[in-house]
Amino acid sequence: MSSRPMKGLVLAGGKGTRLRPLTYAMAKQLVPVANKPILHYALDELYKGGIRDFGIIISPETGRSIEQSVEQWLPSDVQVEFILQEEPLGLAHAVKVAQPFLGSDNFVMYLGDNLINVHLKQLIDRFNDANCEALILLKSVENPSSFGVAVLNEERQVIRLVEKPKAPPSDLALIGVYFFTPAIFDAIQKIKPSWRGELEITDAIQQLLSENRPVLSHIHAGWWLDTGKKDDLLAANRTVLDEPLPMHVAGEVTSSSSLTGPVDIAEGSQILHSKIVGPVRIGKNCVIERAYIGPYTSIGDGCQVLNCEVENSVLLNNCELSNLTGRIEESLIGNGCRILRASQAKKTHKFLLADHSDIEIPSNL
Ligand code: TTP
Repeated sequence: MSSRPMKGLVLAGGKGTRLRPLTYAMAKQLVPVANKPILHYALDELYKGGIRDFGIIISPETGRSIEQSVEQWLPSDVQVEFILQEEPLGLAHAVKVAQPFLGSDNFVMYLGDNLINVHLKQLIDRFNDANCEALILLKSVENPSSFGVAVLNEERQVIRLVEKPKAPPSDLALIGVYFFTPAIFDAIQKIKPSWRGELEITDAIQQLLSENRPVLSHIHAGWWLDTGKKDDLLAANRTVLDEPLPMHVAGEVTSSSSLTGPVDIAEGSQILHSKIVGPVRIGKNCVIERAYIGPYTSIGDGCQVLNCEVENSVLLNNCELSNLTGRIEESLIGNGCRILRASQAKKTHKFLLADHSDIEIPSNL
């Protein structure tokens, strides 16, 4: 087993355009999945893998909120350096900006908006003990044309990478975890921005390959979830709630309520005359009254759900839903949103929506 120091580089900058309008108000890495910020899953995995020295890439727009969230997570034996990337000019650009932090150490780079159930410890040991300059995680996907794709030889060494190929030479997509030696810095120096104006990490790895520097791969068998869009996020919420996570009931549940399946209710919440069918997570200080909360729902802190049905949805903090007739399904509802039935019967809808909001009303209403 190797004991070489290894640093962790977590990418928590970027724009998050695909998750608008939520990302007008918050960093996409802080959107919760099963009531825990996506970023904390990455930090937890790295910590479990033995990483104690973290560099976190932040953007000018959301950097402060990322810092605050990391400070809430921070175990006492971890060092963190926040590294400002002025503009999101690509994953390889983020590595370049982090060079003073990374120095001459090997490092693992982890995209802060990815959820991967990977055990990093074994991979870290394999990488440190192998004679290679990079180790990349790959996963067999159904739509390889949407990803960077790797071609391997019989020893599973990487021969070639192709970015979003029209005719994919393999179905092995690069996923958001990479291991590098400092050789990657020279490779990044030699590449040019791509057509989208970004310094691409796939180009930098391809540069290593063209110099005959060995790049190893690991084919990941577990789940990998990109949380870039609403439906991906709901899928991530379902997958995480399906894991055998510790579930408990700390809040108050009246005898007229029923809980079925795995249900986690945090302290200070009240479940009154309601039916909850898990897997469901409910945060702190919520009031759920005369409601049905169905499978694969996560409800943040301080929400009120009165006389409504909600299923397969994610509510962030301090939402208020009341007296709705149709069931809320496949919905992602941001902090402090209110959806209420008006007191007078009118055939009008009233909205206050941010840019890129998305509302679907059934044809019979
Ligand atoms: P992406 O999802 O590729 O990019 P993005 O965050 O800009 O999102 P969108 O496509 O919705 O606009 O980024 C993957 C991760 O890397 C994510 O956590 C953001 C981070 N990132 C940086 O920190 N710096 C960068 O220059 C880029 C491109 C991404």
